[in-house]
Amino acid sequence: MEKTNVAIVGLGTVGTGVARLLLDHGDRTARHAGRTMWLKRAVVRDLAKPRDVDLPAGVVTESLDDVINDPEITVVAQLIGGLEPARTIMLQLMAAGKDIVTANKALLAEHGPELFTKARELGRSIAFEASVAGGIPIIANISQCLSANQILSMEGILNGTSNFIVTQMDEKGASYDDVVRKAQELGYAEADPTMDVDGTDAAQKLAILAHLAFGATVDWSQIPRTGIDRLDPTDLQYARELGYRIKLLAVAHLADDGLELSVAPTLVRIGTPIAEVRDAFNAIRVIGDAVGPVFYHGLGAGQMPTASAVVADLIDTAVGRTKLTFQTLEYFSIDQPPRVLLRD
Ligand code: NDP
Ligand code: HSE
Repeated sequence: MEKTNVAIVGLGTVGTGVARLLLDHGDRTARHAGRTMWLKRAVVRDLAKPRDVDLPAGVVTESLDDVINDPEITVVAQLIGGLEPARTIMLQLMAAGKDIVTANKALLAEHGPELFTKARELGRSIAFEASVAGGIPIIANISQCLSANQILSMEGILNGTSNFIVTQMDEKGASYDDVVRKAQELGYAEADPTMDVDGTDAAQKLAILAHLAFGATVDWSQIPRTGIDRLDPTDLQYARELGYRIKLLAVAHLADDGLELSVAPTLVRIGTPIAEVRDAFNAIRVIGDAVGPVFYHGLGAGQMPTASAVVADLIDTAVGRTKLTFQTLEYFSIDQPPRVLLRD
């Protein structure tokens, strides 16, 4: 059976999950890819740091050059968070002929045009299913499965940490600070959890989805956004008494005059599907003009759900499916994107 040599850069929460899936479940990747996905290298910052996965001798390295200079490694899961050095590393890897899989939405939302343009010039692919809604295959659905539709609207819970916090505060009376700490321990939160609770992470994900669904180039930082960090426990209590819950909703709506985007804590009626989305689960309701409403629900943060999306992208990349989608999508070349209305 053919073998694809894979590397991981960044062995944190998600990287460790990806290593586990590749090492423990090679049979699944063989089944779906028709080839073995072989974890040849994992690049870390600190060799001495204990890792929560048993890696074969010689796999872990502190040197990115061990990946860059190895022509056998063709696909790299780039799983460092933040903008730098993640951006530079991604450019170096693509220049060295590697296809990329990443979960880093902050990087794509900020530097997507540069990275995708470079990928196209170099004939490389960037797969990013894990960057939005963790284990829910929303990128594949919007860019492939619903491609016969004009998407009319998308609304949903795109940040697992915020939803975990409001659920625990609402249902268990937990304190805000305690639940933020718990979300960090569980591996849901960003390295800087401010990004989760102030709506930044949801806005970055919404910008990525809006690009795929509407062809609109959106500066995520211009999306009107309010996080859950300003909520008071009494807000949740009054909402409940009136028959509502409060959820951090990210909304994209195609109006007559353009595309409306927002991220804000929103009252949702108890009993509706979106109100019943609990803890680190995410949900997205998409309306397409042909398909009508479609509802996606699943874990949007956490080690193994996110690793599930990353490894699926690794397999797709190894067999060439990513490249096909990527070229078909023509990521930055839609002729008449809708005007983006950044109304507060
Ligand atoms: P972590 O902070 O747990 O892991 C990041 C890892 O990258 C750390 O282990 C860090 O090393 C390592 N790292 C940083 N710089 C370098 C470098 N120069 N060379 C090698 N390794 C480096 O983050 P996550 O795994 O949670 O997240 C990774 C990415 O996935 C982020 O972009 C995040 O937004 C995204 N994501 C995360 C999800 C989640 O549920 N956690 C879900 C979906 C997406 P060190 O340990 O030394 O700090
Ligand atoms: N911090 C993010 C969240 C991780 O809580 O949703 C998943 O992207």
